[in-house]
Amino acid sequence: MSHAVTVSDLVKRYHPHAPAAVDGLSFTVERGEVFGLLGPNGAGKSTTVGVLTTRMLPTSGRCLLFGTDVVARPARAKQLLAVVPQRQNLDRSLDVRQNLLFHARYHGVGRDERVRRAAELLDLMGLTDQAGQRVERLSGGQAQRVVIARALMHAPKVLFLDEPSTGLDPQSRLFLHERIRELRERGVTVVLTTHDMEEAESLSDRVGIVDRGRLLALDTPRALTEALPGGTTITAQVRGTDLPAERAESAEKIVAALTQLPGVGAAEHDPALRGTGTAAGAGQCFRVRTDKDPAALLPDVLRTLVDHGAEPVGLSMARPSLQDVFISLTGRELR
Ligand SMILES: Nc1ncnc2c1ncn2[C@@H]1O[C@H](COP(=O)(O)OP(=O)(O)OP(=O)(O)O)[C@@H](O)[C@H]1O
Ligand SMILES: [Mg+2]
Repeated sequence: MSHAVTVSDLVKRYHPHAPAAVDGLSFTVERGEVFGLLGPNGAGKSTTVGVLTTRMLPTSGRCLLFGTDVVARPARAKQLLAVVPQRQNLDRSLDVRQNLLFHARYHGVGRDERVRRAAELLDLMGLTDQAGQRVERLSGGQAQRVVIARALMHAPKVLFLDEPSTGLDPQSRLFLHERIRELRERGVTVVLTTHDMEEAESLSDRVGIVDRGRLLALDTPRALTEALPGGTTITAQVRGTDLPAERAESAEKIVAALTQLPGVGAAEHDPALRGTGTAAGAGQCFRVRTDKDPAALLPDVLRTLVDHGAEPVGLSMARPSLQDVFISLTGRELR
């Protein structure tokens, strides 16, 4: 059986002399999967979605949706797909419900069926009260829900969502995530682009990390993070900006002692408390990375700190994130 999406050696060059926006991308998306394309601004995510959704032609390469070539058979492809573009494109001359009905009519959905689906989708997206509203009166979050409802009116088999949660407040974001999970349960294949690694991690069955038009890695979020060396990071915050004078040993000695502990892969001292969510100047911390069970290591870490005159006041453990994967692949932060 064919994949939901097949991208083979896709290249898209907007100008003959400009670098390729998509530079030899290949991946497949399974039927019923939520697939995340994760990459920074300008990575080529929207361009890839543009080609897959027949909005633009590729320079070279092939794209198939359920075995249908999107370049050779765009009309057939459009029946199979729906897209929620990065910039909302509702018809401002129509109200919410009419936007849904017109879209379905364009796709050849019969009258009774259109009316039934519009009512169901307005309800699903929490828009029943806005059904008769002009779209220009909607908030950004409401407009985006209308775009999703409209996209679903012709019962597509694959839905492309281009940065769907950009600009949404936390509540709308959560609502959107619930709807995406629901679509997956109904068997709709979802391809979503994002530069938000938490979103990619929590929603996607598999994630493709793209940068500069190339695919750098593709796997389940768990496999991507587990492949990183170092495993879990334990961060111990210690009081003050200096250790108690009389018993203080230099931070280097503490780092050396932590490094000696069985199971520790690496240890470091961080005087500035980077990325712990603590107010600046509240103290400093020591960080230890381990591939072993972090819980078994905690007592040793704490005792080592206390033995060396440092007073632990906070403790956290973190598994590597997709952000760490991206940094290890590119040497840069995702955003
Ligand atoms: N219509 C266009 N004409 C010329 N260049 C373009 C066009 N659209 C995109 N590009 C360029 O192609 C590259 C990839 O852009 P694209 O919009 O696909 O990235 P993206 O991953 O979607 O980024 P973002 O996260 O900012 O939406 C960028 O360098 C961009 O400047
Ligand atoms: Mg984009």
